[in-house]
Amino acid sequence: MRKLLASLAITMSAVGAAHADLQSEADAAAGREKAQPCAACHGQEGISPSGAFPNLAGQQASYLAKQIMDIRDGNRNVPQMAGQVDNFSDQDAWDVATYFAEKEPALGQADPEPALVEHGRELYRAGDLAKGLPACSACHSPTGQGIGTAVYPALSGQKSEYVVATLQAFAAGERTNDPNAIMRDIATKMSDRDMEAVANYVLGLH
Ligand code: HEC
Ligand code: HEC
Repeated sequence: MRKLLASLAITMSAVGAAHADLQSEADAAAGREKAQPCAACHGQEGISPSGAFPNLAGQQASYLAKQIMDIRDGNRNVPQMAGQVDNFSDQDAWDVATYFAEKEPALGQADPEPALVEHGRELYRAGDLAKGLPACSACHSPTGQGIGTAVYPALSGQKSEYVVATLQAFAAGERTNDPNAIMRDIATKMSDRDMEAVANYVLGLH
């Protein structure tokens, strides 16, 4: 058992080291070339033209690389992206991820309705004890920047329509690439109003 654990630990750190190499060797200029076909939906600068498509600008590189590989490998089902990243190597994923991560993030104008803003702020910063909802800020950070080393994505400035849609997808079990089902657990405890409020709040959070 101890031997198994020890070899597991070595394998895990080897995987971690391989990722660190891919990240440190990531080439944003090469990523820019490979990102040309993405512009139609995600924008040349990573700010998408519609709420149906997530912004990629300023997102954590580690998170973007994981999503690209998850979509490529069929661990996250995005029908609109059929064929887009099928031929990407892991290095291609990191190159494109680094390109978008370095772009200036979007910042939206939240709906100022006081009750909606207050409810969003409360959920984001404190969670909801009665519902067993943790504070989003614990993982997504108080400013919504996320935590790159932990692969926790930024939410700041993300399109509200997309945030609601992806929370619904987690709740319905349609999006299943969250480690330990962390977001599926959280999203199933959220009401429509909770989702709307938090999506509105993070739009203007920075
Ligand atoms: C035809 C439109 C379209 C094109 C072209 C496209 N995407 Fe997407 N992409 C989407 C949609 C729609 C989603 C969100 C799907 C969902 O709701 O889960 C998405 C999601 C993503 C995500 C996840 C973002 C997040 O916040 O979780 C990444 C990363 C991504 N795309 C990268 C790319 C890259 C890289 C390219 C180009 C090689 C590309 N996309 C081309 C439509 C597109
Ligand atoms: C314990 C850590 C943790 C907490 C607490 C947490 N999240 Fe997450 N969240 C994650 C992780 C990890 C992911 C990325 C999953 C993946 O790899 O696809 C994520 C992804 C998301 C996404 C998808 C981002 C995108 O671009 O597609 C949204 C939206 C989100 N979380 C909202 C919330 C909200 C709202 C709360 C609070 C009610 C919350 N999260 C609390 C860890 C957390």
